[in-house]
Amino acid sequence: MLIAPSILSADFGNLARDVKAICDAGCDLVHVDVMDGHFVPNMTIGPVVAEAVAKAASKPLDVHLMVQNNNFFVDLFAPLKPEYISFHIESEVHANRLAQKIRTLGIKPAVVLNPHTPVEDIEYLLEYLDMVLLMSVNPGFGGQKFIPNVLEKAMRLKELILKRNPDCKIEIDGGVSDKNIEQVKNAGVDIAVAGSYVFKHPQGVKAAIDSLRV
Ligand code: DX5
Ligand code: ZN
Repeated sequence: MLIAPSILSADFGNLARDVKAICDAGCDLVHVDVMDGHFVPNMTIGPVVAEAVAKAASKPLDVHLMVQNNNFFVDLFAPLKPEYISFHIESEVHANRLAQKIRTLGIKPAVVLNPHTPVEDIEYLLEYLDMVLLMSVNPGFGGQKFIPNVLEKAMRLKELILKRNPDCKIEIDGGVSDKNIEQVKNAGVDIAVAGSYVFKHPQGVKAAIDSLRV
């Protein structure tokens, strides 16, 4: 299981320190949550702060856009050369076009599904993607409760992926902890995002990340 800690739960007063800590602890990706106050009722970081994160990070960035105007935000974040840029299918009419644009920029394109969005909606997009991110909470905030029916969605998605693009990865985001990571793994998920579990773990970020390696 690859682990992508979400810096949404980091101490923003000590962001570089916290980013270095998760990278030193052996995380695989640094998950960066970008919110515009329109698609979700919260705002987080823009490209200026993300640039500071990229400088502090020794691992690749995983940029999760939670925005209305995806094309605009892709242009803002592409210069940071993240490993992935993921955008929500619910806010994108021209998903195929945007996925192709992200790939042309040398970045791996990914699409995000809200908890209620069926995986069948993206069957004909899979061959244009490197990853699908399944939300296991409603996006906008850290520290929410895991929605268990996402596990069934992951299994259905895995079937579609095997048919359409076996190289496409599955990522899950929201409420992930040591309590559900086994089930997440068994459902076919490749990459787990975890925010509050990692940054609020009593034994520190390394113990948290290690406990998610199933
Ligand atoms: C939610 C974000 C998540 C969030 C996860 O909108 O996309 O990445 O930080 O936080 P936890 O792991 O605390 O649910
Ligand atoms: Zn996220």
